[in-house]
Amino acid sequence: MDLTDLNLDWQGWFARWEAMQNCYVPRRIERFDLMLKLPGLPREAELRILDVGCGPGSLSFFASRHFPNARILAVDFDPVLLAMGQQIAEKSCGRVEFERVDIREPRWWQSYDSQFDLVVSATALHWLSAEHLAQTFRRIFEVLKPGGWFFNSDHVASGDPRTQSSYREMLEKRRQTAFSSTRADDWNGFWESLGHAVGRLDLAKLRNVNHFWEGTDDGQPKEFHLAALRQCGFEQVETYWQDLGEAIIGARKARGGP
Ligand SMILES: C[S@@+](CC[C@H](N)C(=O)[O-])C[C@H]1O[C@@H](n2cnc3c(N)ncnc32)[C@H](O)[C@@H]1O
Repeated sequence: MDLTDLNLDWQGWFARWEAMQNCYVPRRIERFDLMLKLPGLPREAELRILDVGCGPGSLSFFASRHFPNARILAVDFDPVLLAMGQQIAEKSCGRVEFERVDIREPRWWQSYDSQFDLVVSATALHWLSAEHLAQTFRRIFEVLKPGGWFFNSDHVASGDPRTQSSYREMLEKRRQTAFSSTRADDWNGFWESLGHAVGRLDLAKLRNVNHFWEGTDDGQPKEFHLAALRQCGFEQVETYWQDLGEAIIGARKARGGP
C-alpha cells in the first residue's frame, strides 16, 4: 500500500512531530534559522540545497521559506516521515522534493557531484557510527559546489566523560521542563499514536529503524567532528553555536582556482 493513499491528517501529524522534536532539541528553530543565515547566501538566488536526514522535511520547508527561489532535495530512509513530507510539499511550495535514501550507500551520492550550494542536517547524523559519519562528511564535500557550505545541527559530545555526564543531566532536565509545559508526545508516544491511526499497517516493520540506528544519543565528540571535516579538505571548520552538548558545526568547501 502507498502510504500517501492513507486518509490521514498529515498536517496534524507534522505539527505533532514538530512539537515533539522542539521539546527534545533545545532552540531547534533558532538553529534552523542560523544554519540558513550563517553562509550569507543571497536570499533571492536559485540555490540548490540538500537536507540530509530530513525526517518529514521540517528544515527543508523552513529553508524553502527563507530562500524563495531555492530547490531543496530532502533525503531520509524513513518511508512514513517521507510520506508525511510529500503530502505537505504537494500542498505547499512545490520546491521541496523528497527522496528515499540510506545515506550510508555511496551510489546515490555519486550522481550529485558538485551540485549543491548548501548542505544542511538537523538532529540526524548522530544516528551514524563514527566511521559512517566521517564517510558522510566526505560525500557531502563531494556534492558541494566550490565555495558551498555545510551546516550540521546535532548532539555533539564532550571528550571528557564527566563533562558529558553534566551535559546529559542538564539536557534531560530541560527536556522534562519542555514536555511538562506542552502536550507534546514523546518519541515512543508519537509512533504508538501514529501506529493506531494507520490501523492494520505495521509501522515498525515498514520503517525498519533498527537496521539504521548505529550511533549514540550523545553524538560523536566535537573534536571528532571538527577533525573529520578538516580531513575532507573543508575550510572555516568551526563550532558556530553551542549550548551544552548541542551544537551547530559548519564548514566551507574552498572556492578553488588561483
Ligand atoms: C530525529 S530525526 C530528525 C529529522 C529532521 N531533520 C528534523 O529535524 O525534524 C533523525 C532522522 O535521521 C534519519 N536517518 C538516520 N539514519 C539515516 C540513514 N542512514 N539514511 C537516511 N536517513 C537517516 C531518520 O530516518 C530520521 O528521520
